[in-house]
Amino acid sequence: MSGAIQLTIDGRVVEVQPGQTVLDGARKLGIDIPTLCYLEKCGPLTSCLACVVKINGKVVPSCATVATPGMAVESETDEVREARRTAMELLLSDHVGDCLSPCQRLCPLGLEIPKLIRHMQAGNVAAASVYVEDALPLPGTLSRLCHAPCENGCRRGTADQPVAIRDLERTVADAKASAPIIPLRKVPARFSVVIVGSGPTGLAAAFAFAREGHACTVVDRNPAAGGSLRRATELSEAVLSADIARIQALGVEFKFGMALGAALTIDGLRRGFDAVFLATGELTKDELTAVGVSAAGSGIKINDVFQTNVPAVFAAGSVVKPVKHLVRAMADGVAAAECIHQFLSHGSIRKSGKPFSSIMGRLEKSELALFLKQGSPSPRLTPSNVFNGFSEEEACAEAARCVHCDCRAAGDCGLQHYSAMYGADQGRFREGRRLFEQHRQHSEVIYEPGKCIRCGICVRITEMSREPLGLTFIGRGFDVQVAAPMNETIAEGLRKTAEECIEGCPTGALVQPDESRGGG
Ligand code: SF4
Ligand code: SF4
Ligand code: SF4
Ligand code: FES
Repeated sequence: MSGAIQLTIDGRVVEVQPGQTVLDGARKLGIDIPTLCYLEKCGPLTSCLACVVKINGKVVPSCATVATPGMAVESETDEVREARRTAMELLLSDHVGDCLSPCQRLCPLGLEIPKLIRHMQAGNVAAASVYVEDALPLPGTLSRLCHAPCENGCRRGTADQPVAIRDLERTVADAKASAPIIPLRKVPARFSVVIVGSGPTGLAAAFAFAREGHACTVVDRNPAAGGSLRRATELSEAVLSADIARIQALGVEFKFGMALGAALTIDGLRRGFDAVFLATGELTKDELTAVGVSAAGSGIKINDVFQTNVPAVFAAGSVVKPVKHLVRAMADGVAAAECIHQFLSHGSIRKSGKPFSSIMGRLEKSELALFLKQGSPSPRLTPSNVFNGFSEEEACAEAARCVHCDCRAAGDCGLQHYSAMYGADQGRFREGRRLFEQHRQHSEVIYEPGKCIRCGICVRITEMSREPLGLTFIGRGFDVQVAAPMNETIAEGLRKTAEECIEGCPTGALVQPDESRGGG
């Protein structure tokens, strides 16, 4: 290639054309350098400093550094990672938004409640059902027995009563009860696991493990699956059986009348399966001794990734320590299955933390009022028929009470993505925060200035597209804000380029309203 420039990034040689940047070289090598304020068509704006690398002892933004022959670039060192993390933490320090709604953060299974509710608000119960059946191991059971910790955090509850999330879940789960949706399995069976115990923890693990495409056998000393769920008086046999049948339909095999003991030993199970998962529920002292793994207190001893002292043997749920809540017991099962999957697939386990979320904390009255505008003013509904739960119409009306306190950009936001990747701590440089604001004058854009990182992309897009008014930076220092000039509204500023600016905005500062994305 004539005139090509050769440089090295983390010791790897790459060639770029004259005028191309270090970032271009890194992308050519498949090295993921975070960028927030960089869009090729806008050119470098160098406002976020997320993309820094080290060259000749100096930390510089790679998006604006033109490559020169023989340049030696460091990208993946601890020092560079730390600088990027700091850049992210500075942006987060005055960031005003909840990536994930409090209800979702409080659900031990991380159910994306706002997503379910948006489907309901759009009257699409079928889509909500597909989501719930995919996300929950035992949807019929859980939507009746869960203690609903999600509702405790619901922002609507600060104004009057929380959204009836669990009852909504139940309607959605029951809508599919006669024709259950069997979630897809990922790949053909690669590994095998035996689960001892078919209570909530064991069943949830079976669901998660089978979905990863592995072969799964559940053994239980009782004549039927369900464990402690069989004793729940609020739960009908039909609902529990339908949930279990769905797990069976995923290919999970059940064997009953088999208890750990002389005929069924851990060693024997280890010979027959790639991994053993103990989810028997509480054991007596004698039973515990008979299992033959190390104990701590009245339960099995495990490390933080559910491993016992015996190789390839895992345990979770009440066999480790009493678990009070059903949803917690299931979340343990799902988390353990994920660890077993990693152990079998990679030979090691990386504990997955909570998903990253910026957090707003307590809302001021004026902020709550802004959120409340997004929900129907009706008081909380109670199902008119307690035995059957909400009708679909009642459920949709109740869903309309949700005030959408999650961020519409979550899952598609550069700041959220890289903050998670770099382990950013929002609290590190935080001193108070701005008030939450929301501008909705434009029919196709919601603008939330507290989520703006002042990257300048939208300003540049409006300049390049010769918007009649466009956007600009207003104010000084920390108070700088993107706005339309001359006190005009965002609607005036974005006459032609609303869609392009939403697309280009690296955060949720400019987003589409729910109505224009079909409630999704
Ligand atoms: S803009 Fe990004 S970081 Fe901010 S709340 Fe939304 S998803 Fe989270
Ligand atoms: S208002 Fe809606 S999104 Fe917010 S916490 Fe309640 S249910 Fe969740
Ligand atoms: S609103 Fe404009 S300046 Fe603010 S983050 Fe989005 S694109 Fe960047
Ligand atoms: S400074 Fe390079 S992407 Fe923001």
